[in-house]
Amino acid sequence: MWRGICLFLPFVVLGGRLYSELTGVLDDCFCDVESIDVFNNFKIYPRIKKLTGKDYFRYYRVNLRRPCPFWPDDGHCSIKDCHVESCPESKIPVGIKSGNYNKYSQAPSEIADVTECEQVKELGAINSTLSNRSKQAFADWARHDDAQDNFCELDDETSPDSEYVDLLLNPERFTGYKGPSAWRVWNSIYEENCFKPRSVYRPLNPLAPSRGDDDEEVFYKWLEGLCLEKRVFYRLISGLHSSINIHLCAEYLLDEGWSRSVWGPNPQEFRQRFDTAETKGEGTRRLKNLYFLYLIELRALYKVAPYFERAFINLYTGNLKEDGATKDLLLQVFNEIKSFPMHFDEKSMFAGHKIEAKILKEDFRLHFKNISRIMDCVGCSKCRLWGKLQTEGLGTALKILFSEKEIQKLPEHSPSKGFQLTRQEIVALINGFGRLSTSIHQLHSFRLLLDDNR
Ligand SMILES: *[C@@H]1O[C@H](CO)[C@@H](O)[C@H](O)[C@H]1NC(C)=O
Ligand SMILES: *[C@@H]1O[C@H](CO)[C@@H](O)[C@H](O)[C@H]1NC(C)=O
Ligand SMILES: *[C@@H]1O[C@H](CO)[C@@H](O)[C@H](O)[C@H]1NC(C)=O
Repeated sequence: MWRGICLFLPFVVLGGRLYSELTGVLDDCFCDVESIDVFNNFKIYPRIKKLTGKDYFRYYRVNLRRPCPFWPDDGHCSIKDCHVESCPESKIPVGIKSGNYNKYSQAPSEIADVTECEQVKELGAINSTLSNRSKQAFADWARHDDAQDNFCELDDETSPDSEYVDLLLNPERFTGYKGPSAWRVWNSIYEENCFKPRSVYRPLNPLAPSRGDDDEEVFYKWLEGLCLEKRVFYRLISGLHSSINIHLCAEYLLDEGWSRSVWGPNPQEFRQRFDTAETKGEGTRRLKNLYFLYLIELRALYKVAPYFERAFINLYTGNLKEDGATKDLLLQVFNEIKSFPMHFDEKSMFAGHKIEAKILKEDFRLHFKNISRIMDCVGCSKCRLWGKLQTEGLGTALKILFSEKEIQKLPEHSPSKGFQLTRQEIVALINGFGRLSTSIHQLHSFRLLLDDNR
């Protein structure tokens, strides 16, 4: 078992309120939800927020133009009807472009579609502005990185279509991308990539034929019957899904004015996804999976600390002073993580029969790789960007967890052939973890908001 993972402790959402119930502390760890909250919100979140604002971490190289390999691309504007109507600029009334469409009196349904479509296009678009300095710097970064030995290649990194995106200019928030097209992406992840037989239905799956209350029971029986690794896989995906949804609820488009849009928390939207009553208990499970994912990535960071602690590893942007400060900040985060007395034993993963374990590990890897390809099917550029980043971050975390031996054997003064991280992986790892940290922080805000509303 995952000794010390205290996520299995019950904590329940009651009428919008989250109660942590600490029962049965496992071993000598005190990783109940409340302790994780305190640790994250006070120690990790402020530092990781600062860290992700640094030049090294704010530019992520990504290919957003890879075609969806699994079904016909429905374009970049893919909510209902939008792929039929490709929403050309010229068709959008001027009033809509400036955000105030209510005063126009076109046929309501038509305008609603075009408007929604335009909204997704606009909110989901990438702002590809980069400062002059950074543009010039990137060539220099690449030269520096090439001089290091890199042993792993990522499709996105080497593709000529890859480009740097400034993450600070493209915050992850509500874009209007939802409905069937968005469901389809998550559905294919859960239904076709989580080791699940077709006969078992995921609870509350909007695309599955509902067959009544049995579904839930059948599903959880199936999940419990899985081996640890496959169950973990499912929980990680569910945690990622929860985290992304929390961001969208916390940075919701509240108002679209003439001059500027207003973003903020939408408790209604949050409740709809996570409230116990409104989700038949699914919300609680989803949140637990978020904490589970958080601990997994935290563990990976703990494991990879020695890699970064070596003096010759620098986070290169060409500005020596700034690079030193960035590395210091990263090491501070590692030190906080080391001081958190929370342990679980990832060695129990793939610990069974040797050959079986090897097959399972490879299976795990392939499934995960497939999921990152599914991200190419996300029909909104900004959602695709953050989907790819967070999947790659989790992928990197898993790579670290399964490379324990190689990390222990790292040479102190030279690059290792056994274990390497590319800039892109490092940026994804830290930003991906930053997103989880933000989710837990935002969860706290929702808790206060919902308590106030009682
Ligand atoms: C992109 O971001 C820059 C810097 O904040 C801003 O000046 C510009 O207007 C943005 N472009 C778009 C299309 O939003
Ligand atoms: C960026 O570079 C262009 C052309 O090289 C120049 O015209 C522009 O003023 C520069 N912008 C800034 C903010 O330095
Ligand atoms: C990869 O994902 C696609 C789309 O969901 C699915 O059809 C396919 O079976 C998956 N392949 C593997 C090896 O999991």
